[in-house]
Amino acid sequence: MAHFKDSKRTISKERQEFPIRVLHAYPRAYVGWGAHTMLGIEAKKLGMKHAMIVTTGLRGTGIIDEIRGILQYAGVTSDVYTNVTGNPKDHEVMEGYKSVMKSKSDGLISIGGGSTIDCCKGIRLVHSHEGKHIREFEGAFKAIMPNKIPHLSVNTTSGTGSEVSCFCIINHTDEKYKMAIFDPTCTPSMAVDDPLLHQTMPADLTAYTGMDALTHAVEAIASRLQVQAAYGPGLWAIGQIFQNLREASANRNNDRAMEQMVWAELAAGVSFNSAGLGIVHSMAHVLGGLYDSPHGLCNAIGLVDSCRHNLPGCPGRFKIMAEAAGLDVRGLSDYKAGEKFIDAVEELRNELGIYKNFKDLGMRREDLDLCARKALKDICTEGNPIDMGFEDMRRVFATCMEGHAPNNNRK
Ligand SMILES: [Fe+2]
Repeated sequence: MAHFKDSKRTISKERQEFPIRVLHAYPRAYVGWGAHTMLGIEAKKLGMKHAMIVTTGLRGTGIIDEIRGILQYAGVTSDVYTNVTGNPKDHEVMEGYKSVMKSKSDGLISIGGGSTIDCCKGIRLVHSHEGKHIREFEGAFKAIMPNKIPHLSVNTTSGTGSEVSCFCIINHTDEKYKMAIFDPTCTPSMAVDDPLLHQTMPADLTAYTGMDALTHAVEAIASRLQVQAAYGPGLWAIGQIFQNLREASANRNNDRAMEQMVWAELAAGVSFNSAGLGIVHSMAHVLGGLYDSPHGLCNAIGLVDSCRHNLPGCPGRFKIMAEAAGLDVRGLSDYKAGEKFIDAVEELRNELGIYKNFKDLGMRREDLDLCARKALKDICTEGNPIDMGFEDMRRVFATCMEGHAPNNNRK
């Protein structure tokens, strides 16, 4: 056995970069059909007497009215803050904070997808710091105060993972980019994932958010942080997404497919919560900030070309992703197996009818330099398995901008 002091003699590159990995906690969660009916009891257990519901409104679904009734039955009154939009904005967070103060709410309940959950996380941060502007929290570990009120996170989309993560992404509306806020205090007090609520998604949103979940799993496993405990849930999520996303998107009434997508998005969230993400998310954050583009769609477009760029950085991990996706890669080299996986991701995206490119989202050739510069600064770029320079980032952006014609996969 090597002597302890000898083990410190040779310092490898990996040990220098990330000598100690961190497993971040995720909250207690209710997952399953009808889980939302537990909200009244759980809100009460968390000490809520008057809750602020944070939401986009989820118009036409009846979800908000139903949950307010469930809360009322348990003796928890509520107000509703409905000014959240996709790619939640800094001013929406600050308005939400004022609403919480005005209504004297003693708890937050976010009901919606990633935008709603992130806006609510922002409101809670600002509330804990007596109204300090949300922009002050950009980056990692900027919170200095503990949370003052609980956050019950009710997810309605099979993609975000935000209901179990400590990431909070908010649009800086003056500078037009999405700030990444990373802090354990952003983790919700409790999460609820009820497939009944997820079934209210339209087909395109199901496809986009499902590809977001796939991106979370792929980027977490490929991440240079190499948090190996995150590989299990990530790989399992990849398998479930390949088996169920097509059906869930085509038919939200397929209970089995919807439930598996709920589990997959949650597992992918658990995976990236500790392992981090990569350049697909960096690019999506840039596009969300500049053009207000839907997050899941950005990732669906960016995933394939980013993976092709990153494959040489971790071919072995791409091979295990290929196996998790159910592909026969016996006898193939790691690199060839990785190529097969990326082709399968492209095929899945095409079968979901996603043929858009970054140009369709508003990006123009003259924006390339700006987009590349902004993406390089995004915190997710640090997790990418390959070092990214300006020209690398510009090249990946350019490829995603020109995009893909139907049936152009490389088979
Ligand atoms: Fe995402």
